Amino acid sequence: MTERTLVLIKPDGVDRALVGEILNRIERKGLRVVAMELKTAGDDVARGHYAEHEGKPFYPSLLEFITSGPLVAAVLEGPRAVAAFRQLAGGTDPVEKAVPGTIRGDFALNTQYNLVHGSDSAESAEREIALWFPDL
Ligand code: CMP
Repeated sequence: MTERTLVLIKPDGVDRALVGEILNRIERKGLRVVAMELKTAGDDVARGHYAEHEGKPFYPSLLEFITSGPLVAAVLEGPRAVAAFRQLAGGTDPVEKAVPGTIRGDFALNTQYNLVHGSDSAESAEREIALWFPDL
């Protein structure tokens, strides 16, 4: 079933010049980029995006990090796009969960600075796409 997912290449990915590498993996997998923008998230978008994490110990530093510089927001489309991108990304903890061969497993060491975000369900994707790309 064709679906859409919202992906962020977070400020650490842009800062480390891994945008091309990450997009290359997305495209080789067969997912299609249907919208993409380099932007710096404001506080409102960051809070909306990470609303489910409000109150967690890492929430304040997560907000500070995600608004700290430019990121790439993209909408991907393809069969089972949500699960397909999460498989490419690897687990949230890049050392203990993400295996080699995944984006986080190959390039990240820290759970906060884990390079990418991908929607965790079709429902989250719909909400996140509306937040990042209100005109889509
Ligand atoms: P992401 O997939 O964008 O969803 C929530 C983000 O919070 C996650 O990636 C990490 O960047 C961050 N995060 C999750 N758990 C922790 C944690 N234990 N410590 C610091 N950051 C975390």
